[in-house]
Amino acid sequence: MFLPVVLGLIPLSSAAALYSTYNFDPLEHLGGVAPYFSPQDPPTDPDPPQGCIPVRAAYLVRHAAIYANDFDYEEYLEPFIKKLENHTSIDWSKIPSLSFLATWVPPVTEAEEELLTRVGKLEATQLGVSLSFRYPGFRTPQRVWASSAERTFESAKALVRAFELDDNTINVVSIYESEEGGADTLTPYDSCPAYSSSAGSEQSAVYQEKFTKPIMARLNAQAPGFNFTSDDIYGMMELCGYESVIRGRSPFCDLDLFSPDDWLGWEYTADVQYHYNVGYGNDVAGVIGLPWFNATANLLMGAEADGASQDLYVSFTHRELPPTVLVAMGLFNNSEFGGSEATINDTMPLDRINHRRAWKSSHVLPFLSNIAVERLNCTGSYGHSDGDYYRVLVNDAPQELPDCGDGPGTSCSRQGFTTYLNDRVARFEGYSDKCGVDYKNSTDVLTIYSDPKIGNGTAVGKRAVESKHLRYNGRIAKLAGL
Ligand SMILES: *[C@@H]1O[C@H](CO)[C@@H](O)[C@H](O)[C@H]1NC(C)=O
Ligand SMILES: *[C@@H]1O[C@H](CO)[C@@H](O)[C@H](O)[C@H]1NC(C)=O
Ligand SMILES: *[C@@H]1O[C@H](CO)[C@@H](O)[C@H](O)[C@H]1NC(C)=O
Ligand SMILES: *[C@@H]1O[C@H](CO)[C@@H](O)[C@H](O)[C@H]1NC(C)=O
Ligand SMILES: *[C@@H]1O[C@H](CO)[C@@H](O)[C@H](O)[C@H]1NC(C)=O
Ligand SMILES: *[C@@H]1O[C@H](CO)[C@@H](O)[C@H](O)[C@H]1NC(C)=O
Ligand SMILES: *[C@@H]1O[C@H](CO)[C@@H](O)[C@H](O)[C@H]1NC(C)=O
Ligand SMILES: *[C@@H]1O[C@H](CO)[C@@H](O)[C@H](O)[C@H]1NC(C)=O
Repeated sequence: MFLPVVLGLIPLSSAAALYSTYNFDPLEHLGGVAPYFSPQDPPTDPDPPQGCIPVRAAYLVRHAAIYANDFDYEEYLEPFIKKLENHTSIDWSKIPSLSFLATWVPPVTEAEEELLTRVGKLEATQLGVSLSFRYPGFRTPQRVWASSAERTFESAKALVRAFELDDNTINVVSIYESEEGGADTLTPYDSCPAYSSSAGSEQSAVYQEKFTKPIMARLNAQAPGFNFTSDDIYGMMELCGYESVIRGRSPFCDLDLFSPDDWLGWEYTADVQYHYNVGYGNDVAGVIGLPWFNATANLLMGAEADGASQDLYVSFTHRELPPTVLVAMGLFNNSEFGGSEATINDTMPLDRINHRRAWKSSHVLPFLSNIAVERLNCTGSYGHSDGDYYRVLVNDAPQELPDCGDGPGTSCSRQGFTTYLNDRVARFEGYSDKCGVDYKNSTDVLTIYSDPKIGNGTAVGKRAVESKHLRYNGRIAKLAGL
């Protein structure tokens, strides 16, 4: 008799707090295999600050969701899938957390590696629509830029289709992924000899070993004979991300199979890898990221007459470039408050997780991850004079730039931004030298947005398969034949 009376007095919200409100979504902890989401890191307001309207903006976007990249496929997915096919004698249906394996069909074949999934195409189109909502006053862009791989080019096409009201009004300009392109491409890590695509694997292997050990022991106890390895576990967890963007869901995401703490271990392993690969733990990261940031900042600050012919500049690249741009900008720096340069590697210990790190790959490089730089025209922003201000957003979340926060909201005045840019340039300029370029005709500057030699690209029809693009990747030719 007593209980109902008490409950009647408690407002619903605090009654709910009597029960566990814990929830956990593995898809938000999958680093480079995470489907697109807005992590709200930090939860700053994405709307322009009071009195401000965006007048120009530039976006650097990672391609949208793909079936699997070749490294992940060959290193983790294929060996696990092959091993499954080899172990037909195990009766998976008797093993509770793995019973789905009795009927599971792998979602990806070698032929589909690197292709955009339907989800990927849809999300790239969605990004186009949300940009048109965010910038209703902008002129439709004439050109969108993409590095020449099929997945980046196709992502650009999907975005363009959302922007176009009529067919063939926006061109996509393909920027060849040259290994000798110096700083003048959307893939400057490829042409930087000092960059190694395997950097960080040694360090991340240490944490991978640690977090997978108890999982291996558990699964090997449940399914003796399969001999789950550390890489099998890592690959199964990757499959949660890949299968989700291919089929819309995956049994590997089930929290009864891998617990939230298991996922946090996976995520930290990836974060250690990216820290040493394209983050603050790699001395050449900022050098690789600077040319895009410098070119973009100048494009936004320039007068109309300086060749800023568009209001919106969108460029598609691969997962490596956005994090290096963040380093060039000084964002998501674990040491920002109270640290120093010398201790940056200590912020990513290999024997335990630094849960309070700023550097979270799931937040900075999921599929379709994007960095925006906006020029705002502010008038009547109380406490600030009228004029030009600059603002950076990462996956929708406005970021305060280090030593550059003298404007409304998270923005920075033109004068502050100029000083800040000069500091970053002084620190990271000298691409060819610092990369140890060993080929001729390198360049330290990105000029694709203004160089007439780059050309105007090609129009994107709503549906057409343009034969021009077949050369980028033999695989699309096979697809077109279907
Ligand atoms: C599959 O079985 C064959 C024959 O026993 C063996 O040679 C091969 O290494 C196995 N492959 C895997 C991935 O386990
Ligand atoms: C299990 O796999 C590991 C790594 O491939 C290998 O070293 C070990 O010999 C295997 N154990 C059994 C019992 O097959
Ligand atoms: C962090 O570690 C990497 C790899 O060992 C090294 O190249 C880099 O110089 C270190 N950074 C600092 C600031 O010590
Ligand atoms: C990261 O923050 C520390 C501490 O403020 C600073 O010394 C260091 O220069 C920053 N690193 C970069 C690349 O901006
Ligand atoms: C900024 O806004 C003010 C007030 O609306 C307007 O007069 C001015 O032309 C704008 N400047 C630019 C560069 O758009
Ligand atoms: C470098 O540029 C010069 C002048 O444009 C050209 O003649 C030469 O072939 C180029 N060298 C290489 C290795 O591309
Ligand atoms: C930065 O951009 C300006 C304007 O385009 C250019 O003159 C300068 O050389 C660039 N510097 C670097 C290091 O990219
Ligand atoms: C690119 O487009 C501009 C403006 O539409 C035009 O003036 C120029 O000739 C075009 N360039 C090429 C190489 O087609």
